[in-house]
Amino acid sequence: MRARLDELVAGRLAVGAALPALSCYEFGTALAVVAAAEDAGVPVALLVPPAAARGRDGSRLIAALRTLADGASVPVSVQLDHATDVGLVLEAVAAGADAVLADGSKLPLEDNAALVARVRELTAGSGTVVEAELGDIAGDEDRALSVHAAGGTDPELVAGFVAASGAQLLAVSVGNVHGRYAGEPRLDWPLVAAVRERCPVPLALHGASGLPEGDLARAGAAGLGKVNVNTELRAAVLDATQELLPRARAAGDDVLTLEAARRAAAHRFTGSLLRTLTPAPQDAH
Ligand code: 13P
Repeated sequence: MRARLDELVAGRLAVGAALPALSCYEFGTALAVVAAAEDAGVPVALLVPPAAARGRDGSRLIAALRTLADGASVPVSVQLDHATDVGLVLEAVAAGADAVLADGSKLPLEDNAALVARVRELTAGSGTVVEAELGDIAGDEDRALSVHAAGGTDPELVAGFVAASGAQLLAVSVGNVHGRYAGEPRLDWPLVAAVRERCPVPLALHGASGLPEGDLARAGAAGLGKVNVNTELRAAVLDATQELLPRARAAGDDVLTLEAARRAAAHRFTGSLLRTLTPAPQDAH
């Protein structure tokens, strides 16, 4: 069923949990993610990476995800992830995205706020929820490179940035990276607390692949209301493909078994993430 991303996040935070948001480059993975959310009876967000949104098939993928989300038995949001240009945002919204990350995090502060404000202005009246990113998150959004965390979000900039940009969710840099962590991941929890204290909108944690379960379980109670995962979901699907491919080939190019194994891997991964992000009630506060 259709839902507003900011309301889904607020609802999860109210019970000390975080909303899982998973990157879907193709429809099969999205089917498995939504099925796992339905099985668990919890909402989910489908992230469309810009690499998938760009080009001829991008709008078709988003339209298909829109139909999938609307027909689901749990609330599902479809978010364009990490958009750096306004044209792509408008195409994604026209195709059915209900949320976007207007990502100006590599720009000077004022330009970042201006990009987000422009996206708010252009999507006003459409119900689109706009996330912004403040502070550099190291790594590549589409490739699992191994990197160290970049400098964190400056808590003193948060309130002014949110006011100037009109951001409705804020992705933060708190020791997280996109892709793989070089060395032990170390989230800076005092920085999370300092940012949360000054931020009038919920926070989003990107780069959750590779974080220990304890960090993910703690996210919601710490105010990180949306947790983005890409690399680990992709790896689960790729591993299942690699493992089954020789047998599928031997069995007369058995694509049905192969596709079922890929979906089962995405389903299992999502189910386990959903459980981790939803601590038992006694652990939540
Ligand atoms: P990972 O690939 O590190 O899980 O990051 C995903 C992400 O933050 C998408 O926005």
